[in-house]
Amino acid sequence: MAGVSSAALLAGFLLSLSFLADGLNLWPMPASVSYGSGTLYLSNDFQLRTEGSRYSDGSGILKEAFQRMVDIIKIAHVVDGSLPRYGVLKGLRVLVFSADDKLNFGTEESYKLSIPANNKDAYAEIEAQTVYGALHAFETFSQLCNVNLTTNIIELHSAPWKIVDQPRFPYRGLMIDTSRHYLPLQTIKNVIDSMTYAKLNVLHWHAVDRESFPIELPSFPKLWDGAYSYSERYTTADAHEIVQYAERRGINVLAEIDVPGHARSWGIGYPSLWPSSNCQEPLDVSNEFTFQVIDGILSDFSKIFKFKFVHLGGDEVNTSCWTRTPHISNWLKNHGMNGSDAYRYFVLRAQKIALSHGYDVINWEETFNSFGKELSPRTVVHNWLGGGVAQKVAAAGLRCIVSNQDKWYLDHLDATWDGFYMNEPLVNITKPEQQKLIIGGEVCMWGETVDASDIEQTVWPRAAAAAERLWTPLKKLAKDPMLVRTRLAHFRCLLNRRGVAAAPLFGLGRAAPPHQDSCPKQ
Ligand SMILES: *[C@@H]1O[C@H](CO)[C@@H](O)[C@H](O)[C@H]1NC(C)=O
Ligand SMILES: *[C@@H]1O[C@H](CO)[C@@H](O)[C@H](O)[C@H]1NC(C)=O
Ligand SMILES: *[C@@H]1O[C@H](CO)[C@@H](O)[C@H](O)[C@H]1NC(C)=O
Ligand SMILES: *[C@@H]1O[C@H](CO)[C@@H](O)[C@H](O)[C@H]1NC(C)=O
Repeated sequence: MAGVSSAALLAGFLLSLSFLADGLNLWPMPASVSYGSGTLYLSNDFQLRTEGSRYSDGSGILKEAFQRMVDIIKIAHVVDGSLPRYGVLKGLRVLVFSADDKLNFGTEESYKLSIPANNKDAYAEIEAQTVYGALHAFETFSQLCNVNLTTNIIELHSAPWKIVDQPRFPYRGLMIDTSRHYLPLQTIKNVIDSMTYAKLNVLHWHAVDRESFPIELPSFPKLWDGAYSYSERYTTADAHEIVQYAERRGINVLAEIDVPGHARSWGIGYPSLWPSSNCQEPLDVSNEFTFQVIDGILSDFSKIFKFKFVHLGGDEVNTSCWTRTPHISNWLKNHGMNGSDAYRYFVLRAQKIALSHGYDVINWEETFNSFGKELSPRTVVHNWLGGGVAQKVAAAGLRCIVSNQDKWYLDHLDATWDGFYMNEPLVNITKPEQQKLIIGGEVCMWGETVDASDIEQTVWPRAAAAAERLWTPLKKLAKDPMLVRTRLAHFRCLLNRRGVAAAPLFGLGRAAPPHQDSCPKQ
C-alpha cells in the first residue's frame, strides 16, 4: 500500500460511494449480495421458466407475480427497442422446492437469486423453499432493472449478481384502522401491493373500534349496523377477497376485535352489549350474550382469516361504566370482583374462546402489564406504550411484537424516518432463547387523520425504514441512519414511479416536498 497516494485512496473511496448510490439501490438490503460490472438487456418477451420445480403453481401465484414484476419494471414506459446481439437476458428460471403454497406464520421466505455475466442468451436463476420466497426474489430482481429511455430497452447493471437472502424476523407488520375512517377496498389493495415492495408480510386489520363497525359477520348480522353509512362497509365476501388478494402476494392478514374497551360501535346493532344507554363501554362483562357475540365473531373469523393469530386488543380499558352501572356492580359484588378483576376475567375468557377456534392470541400490552402471569402461554404480547417492554415479556417466557409508539406509530407525524430505522426490537435482550420470543415488529397506522386521500403518504416511506430493520441482518444495518438516506430516498422515488404516493424524507410524516428539485433530493 506504500505507493498509493492518499488522493488515489480518496478517489477510490468516492468512486465506491457513488457506485453504492447508483448501483446498489436495493431496499430492504439483502442478507448477502455480490455483483460485478457487466450490463445485461432484458428480452422483450422476458420469460418465466419453472421446469424442475416441485411446486406446480396450480393456483397461478407465481405466474401472476411474474407478470406483475414485468409490469412494474416497465412502469408504464413503452419498451420496444431493438436488443443488442450479446448480453440478452431471456428470462428467469425459478426452482421452488416445496409443493405447498399454504401461507402462515413461519412460512419459509428465503431465496437465492443468481444473475449471470454477459453471456449469450442467458437466464437468471431463482431458488426458493416456497413460492413466497420466489416472490421476494422477483421484488429484488425488479429493483435491479431500469428502463433505458434512449434505447427503450430494460437494462440490468453490475452483472453478475449473487444474492442470498432471508428475513431476520418472521413477523413484519403494518396495521391499518378501518374504524376511525373507512378505507375503500381498492385502497386496502393498494396498501397490500405497496407492502410487497418493502417485503412486509402481515397486514394487521384493526377492523372495528368504538367509532364504527364496518364489517359483516353472519353470526350476528346487526353488528354492521354500527357502520358509518350504508356503503362504508365490507361484506364477508369482501373480507375473503382481501385475505385472498394479500395471501397471493405473500401477506398474511391478522384480524382484530379490540375487547372489552374500544367496542362502543357493537351496541348500535345490539344495545344490550352496552352497560347502559348512557355508559356504552367497555362491553357488559356481566352479560352472557357478550361472550356469545365474541364466540360468533371468532367463529366467523376462523372461516375467513386463516392466519395462526387473532388479535383481541385489551388496551385502554376504563372499568368505571362497570362499577357505576347498578346491574353490573351487583354482578361484580356477587362474584367477589372489583373492576380490575373483571377486566382480567374478561380478557382471559375471550382468550379461551379464541383458543377454542384454533387461534393463538395477540393482546395489547396492558393485559401483560396487569396480569401477565395469567395469560395463556399461547399469547403474543403486542407492545405499544414504550420501550423496554419486549425485554420483560421475553423474560416472562411469552412472545412479543414490538410497536413502541414513540418510534413505530405512523400517526405520530413527528416520528421521523430515521427513528423508524433505528428502533431495534432486540434492544437489551441478549439471551438467544429470549431473542427468539420477539417474533418481529409492526408499524401502526391509526386512522383518526387518515383515509383514502392520505394513507399512502403517511405510511411511506417511514414504514420502509422499519421494514429494513425487520428484514436485514443486524450486522448489515447502518449504525447511522444518514448512511442509508440516499438509498431510502431512491426507494421512495421508486414507490412514486410505481404509483405509490410515498412522501418526501424531509420534514414530518406526509409533508409536501420542500422545494423544487429532483425526487431523491426531497
Ligand atoms: C442507455 O443506453 C445508451 C446506449 O447504449 C447508453 O449510452 C446509456 O449509457 C444508457 N443509459 C443509462 C442510463 O444506462
Ligand atoms: C374513566 O372514565 C370516567 C368516566 O368517564 C372518568 O371520570 C375517569 O377519569 C376515567 N378514568 C381513567 C383512568 O381514565
Ligand atoms: C381489586 O381486587 C384485587 C384483589 O382481588 C386487589 O389486588 C386490587 O388491588 C383491587 N383493585 C382495585 C382497583 O381496587
Ligand atoms: C437498554 O438498556 C440501557 C442501559 O441499561 C438503557 O439506558 C436503555 O434505556 C434500555 N433501552 C430500552 C428500550 O429499554
